[in-house]
Amino acid sequence: MTKPVILTGLRANNDLHIGNYLGALLPLVDMARQKSSEYQVNLFVPDLHSFTTPIDHSQLQASIMQNIRVFTAAGLPLDNPDVNIYRQSYIPAHSELTWILDCFTGAGEMRRMTQFKDKSEGLGDERVSVGLFNYPVLMAADILLYGARFVPVGDDQTQHLEFARDIAERLNNKFGDLFVVPEPVKKQHEFFGKDQGLRIRDLQNPLKKMSKSDESGKGVIFLTDSPKAARKKIMSAETDSIGKVNYDYERQPGVSNLLDIYRFLGGEPREFIGEAQYGLLKKAVADKVEGFLIDFQARLKKVDNAQIFNKLESDEAKMRKIADSQLLKVQKAVGLRPQ
Ligand code: TRP
Repeated sequence: MTKPVILTGLRANNDLHIGNYLGALLPLVDMARQKSSEYQVNLFVPDLHSFTTPIDHSQLQASIMQNIRVFTAAGLPLDNPDVNIYRQSYIPAHSELTWILDCFTGAGEMRRMTQFKDKSEGLGDERVSVGLFNYPVLMAADILLYGARFVPVGDDQTQHLEFARDIAERLNNKFGDLFVVPEPVKKQHEFFGKDQGLRIRDLQNPLKKMSKSDESGKGVIFLTDSPKAARKKIMSAETDSIGKVNYDYERQPGVSNLLDIYRFLGGEPREFIGEAQYGLLKKAVADKVEGFLIDFQARLKKVDNAQIFNKLESDEAKMRKIADSQLLKVQKAVGLRPQ
């Protein structure tokens, strides 16, 4: 019997911060490690999706590699044969299935997608690419080629996941059982745990999420920050004047955020509850963050590109077979190949 498939795109960018790391990367890597005995775990770099909005193409190869290096430093296992790591564009079936699915997709459906509306806003019609428009169709192909049932995605992607279910059902109804329909969003949340990622807040404004778009950068700890600079950012984090450490996001969001960072870096926040001096908590969190960055940056430096390339090549060969056989099934169903 073949194992059920978990599949997701590895999203990263060059300005990752500890909020992304603790809230998204680490949970994904942990999931891959834990589930790989019972599931086939497919993690891929959606490189074809990366220029649906304009990018510097001369940097694309480097950023794909950096993306995988960061995940590897976060613990993504390169030696686990049940965790497949691949680049979307190295498996041509993704593009080919996209075309076929395109022809069964309504333009209205795509126009209603929230991400499309957000990302195309303010760009003139001529500058909104058709690639951005049918982004969800490529994403559906990514999922359906491998018969994935479980697809962990952030809230901003649930509409796309719903579309993948719709198009799978639409073709199944028309052509017989072609695709595994991914589980509905509610089931996905049950499976992965809804609150997968904790949300680290901005250190200067703990009412909002830590985000790379923070202008001063003082409230954000980037994975590339020097450990000493990161320490200073923690020491000057915004707190309150209550004068007693409590885990209470309503009244003490700054302090609660520090407690969360501490806990997610392996500390025991209870030690500080009731403490009157915020300085002690800050110092402990600063130690943890500094240590974490020293360690992470050392691991990143040691990641072996050759090992990554070997893994990619062998997994891409394996995935090409799976994807091609699913594609052939579809090609037969729509009449592109003899039965
Ligand atoms: N669009 C996803 C994101 O931005 C990445 C992605 C592409 C993806 N294809 C996918 C995720 C297929 C899950 C399944 O996060």
